[in-house]
Amino acid sequence: MLSLKIISVIVNGIRKSIVCDPEETLGNVLRNQLGLTGTKLGCGTGQCGACSVLIDGKVVRSCVKKMKAIPENANIVTIEGIGTPDNLHALQIAWMYHGAAQCGFCTPGFIVSAKALLDENINPTRKEVRDWFQKHRNACRCTGYKPLVDAVMDAAKLIRGEIALEDLTFKLPENTSMLGTKFPRPDGLPKVTGTCDYGHDLILKLPEDTLHMAMVNAKVSHANILSIDISEAEKMPGVHKVITAKDLGDKNVMGFTFMAMPKNKNDGKERPVLCDKKVFQYGDPIALVCADTEVQARVAADKVKVEYELLPAYMSGPEAAAPDAMEIHPGIPNVHFELPVIKGEETGPIMDEAAYVVEGDFYVQRQPHLVLEPEVGFAYTDDEGRITVHTKSLVVVLPQIVIALTLGLPPEKVRIIMNPVGASFGYKLTPNSEVYMAVGTWITGKPVALHYDYAQQTYYTGKRSPMNTYCKLAADKDGKLLAMEHDIILDHGAYDAGGDFLATKAARFCGSCYHIPNIRGLVKSTFTNNAFGTAFRAYGSPQTLFASESLMDELAAKMGIDPFELRYKNIYRPGSTTPSGNELDCHPLEQLMDMMRPKYQEAQARAITESTPELKRGVGISLGTYNTTGDHGDNGEVDLELMPDGTVTVYNTYEEQGQGAEIGTLTAAYEALRPLGLKPEQINLVMNDTAKCPITGAAAASRLFFVNGNATLHAATQLMDAMRKPDGSFRTYQEMMAEGIPVKYRGKFTNADHTTPYNLDNGQGSPSSTYMYAVFMSEVEVNTNTGKVNVLKMTLNTDIGTIGSKLAVDGQMYGGLAQGIGLALSEDFYDPAKHQTMVACGFPYINDITDDLEVNYIQTPRATGPFGAAGCGEIPLTAPHVAIINAINNATGVRIKDLPALPEKVLAGLKSLKK
Ligand code: FES
Ligand code: FES
Repeated sequence: MLSLKIISVIVNGIRKSIVCDPEETLGNVLRNQLGLTGTKLGCGTGQCGACSVLIDGKVVRSCVKKMKAIPENANIVTIEGIGTPDNLHALQIAWMYHGAAQCGFCTPGFIVSAKALLDENINPTRKEVRDWFQKHRNACRCTGYKPLVDAVMDAAKLIRGEIALEDLTFKLPENTSMLGTKFPRPDGLPKVTGTCDYGHDLILKLPEDTLHMAMVNAKVSHANILSIDISEAEKMPGVHKVITAKDLGDKNVMGFTFMAMPKNKNDGKERPVLCDKKVFQYGDPIALVCADTEVQARVAADKVKVEYELLPAYMSGPEAAAPDAMEIHPGIPNVHFELPVIKGEETGPIMDEAAYVVEGDFYVQRQPHLVLEPEVGFAYTDDEGRITVHTKSLVVVLPQIVIALTLGLPPEKVRIIMNPVGASFGYKLTPNSEVYMAVGTWITGKPVALHYDYAQQTYYTGKRSPMNTYCKLAADKDGKLLAMEHDIILDHGAYDAGGDFLATKAARFCGSCYHIPNIRGLVKSTFTNNAFGTAFRAYGSPQTLFASESLMDELAAKMGIDPFELRYKNIYRPGSTTPSGNELDCHPLEQLMDMMRPKYQEAQARAITESTPELKRGVGISLGTYNTTGDHGDNGEVDLELMPDGTVTVYNTYEEQGQGAEIGTLTAAYEALRPLGLKPEQINLVMNDTAKCPITGAAAASRLFFVNGNATLHAATQLMDAMRKPDGSFRTYQEMMAEGIPVKYRGKFTNADHTTPYNLDNGQGSPSSTYMYAVFMSEVEVNTNTGKVNVLKMTLNTDIGTIGSKLAVDGQMYGGLAQGIGLALSEDFYDPAKHQTMVACGFPYINDITDDLEVNYIQTPRATGPFGAAGCGEIPLTAPHVAIINAINNATGVRIKDLPALPEKVLAGLKSLKK
């Protein structure tokens, strides 16, 4: 029998009597019983701080605080008690001013935590702010932490009266451009006040007869399934249905067939919705339990019994690619896609005769995305009979197609709506949970909600695909690059859906930034029994740039010249071609390096002065580039509609993942419609609902500001042409109506007229509209006793064309650099039974990320870009990790070739140098 406790507490200044289960957590009681969903639940295990609240002035992580431990009369403050949309706290004002809420999922926890700090110390130093967040485990995956500390410092100044409210209020002068400004993000206010409802918040507000789904996940990596027994689970309290493959009949195949590229030996049918014959990876779903509550569904899911016959698990690309490895998907070779790269002359003779040759094997790990918000969503049948799924997807049209193909429905019978998202960084490119939710509704006829716990989030979402890259570079006696060879094994995990496309990225970026006239290479995309591969920021480039950018340092060392100058000699200049043989529309690397050179020299001098035998300092450089837009034919559409009140509504699917889709949409529409003289608040945003919006495409490949912007310009031209009177003034909505002139226009963009297809026979082609460029510099300190590496400073000089929102772009750069530090030093996911928490996966907390993040821009306008813009999101994570690894080498002589550079690897390297 459940015995309850009644407790009298003060919540946000109001006394409340709460009747609750004493074993229940405060977080669940606040959210589920009191409706205070501003308190977010992320990890659920005390590791992320998203659920932070104050109890009697102290910061408490409410996900691990049991109700039985709450004292009578406790004074509890949640984000809702700190400030409201019309009465903001200084911290909330500063948070918006600094763009510190990107995805915003961490924001309430940070603000609550910072409030306690400022109550205790109204004049903290940056270090005290950082130490406070470290102590209270406030984790952020998006921002690189710097804007958060900036916000706290400014909030403190505002409270102390040293600055005025106006100093933290951005004002756009009338009739001026918004480009390159810090105009506030439209999504800032709900995020800083906790009023933004993410997926799980929305689930709590769904109608009562919503069913809650729990997955039955395999806990083995490769096995035949001998039997599945659901009889006990079906009898558990609250259970409505236990769905297995039997319920799906011939519809038990994920609808990915349209994604397979020509030459892929996989036809895209290898992934079942629910496994019934084999398990291909840890976490594979075997059944879906639908019950009245999430707890009931999870308890019943544990009662499903599965018997396995274990098979050898192939946990690396080379193992799975070995000739004697069994086929993971019977009938399909493990190496299911091979992409040759053939540029220029045969490389063998050139290598034989070159003055300098370097080569090596490099490995970049399965980087987990480590978002704070676990996978979540829900499905129902809408009032027009469409299966409607609310999701975190970063390309809403994709789950629409996949669900339609899976269930044999016309796409218009499937509707996808995007929820506010606690970040993605690419993992939501691959639909899968959306299919389970749709299946749940399709079979039960009821609304169905699905919410992963954090362990499921780590083991059953896609990961960055590891690559084993062998690379060889040849240069002449002056250091001019002559040739490159590579052999890359790409571990795409248990399922394909993009493994072929990723191979093209690996090929395009190995050796990029330099003119290498002759290349021979091969990229092999391979099934393994690891977590399925998906997109991750800078998709495909960090893996192969690790090899080529490390070898550039090795080559310089062999020649006895500075690695900076070797790079400078070989960078793209007019006449250069990329590894895929295309020429470029601009060449900013020389200017970016010229800007970096004095900083590099100063950093080198600092490293020499400040190095000690125990704490050795070093400086590393790396270059990165990445495409804007996907491949040849990439396209997108945007609608603009003049409204009766004279405002204009934008309709698009520019998926807000925290990167700034709303400010990107607003900026593009405001700029495109400047002749109308609209104020920003006269532009309405309707986004990310496939029933209302045209397809603008994926929040990937740094393409959406570019594609959306171009399509918006096209729509705006049509709308303004229609509104324009003979005297040059514009018709009102009412005048348009009176004259029978349409008020809604569709803008279209395709890159097909200025790109060429990528040739899968030789890896050559010019498939993207333009590129972004970066020069990274890292300054590190290596503890020679422990092997621990401390990144002291990261400097990034970048050219992404004209900057749209400076606030969003700065945020992307800081966040990408922070993820680069994690990629270099700590993040990994190789044991699915072990890596089930943020800490186990090496999540970087604030004191793991330097506060000294310097970003400098040049803005070379792109001829094809809207307002001259290229993209943004991918570039900061192309190669920052290599600058760090090169800096470790500069400090100690240790060359790390296998990421992450954990202290034990660095220590082992130091020991082997001593031998
Ligand atoms: Fe409570 Fe992460 S610390 S949800
Ligand atoms: Fe901090 Fe996204 S803004 S986790």
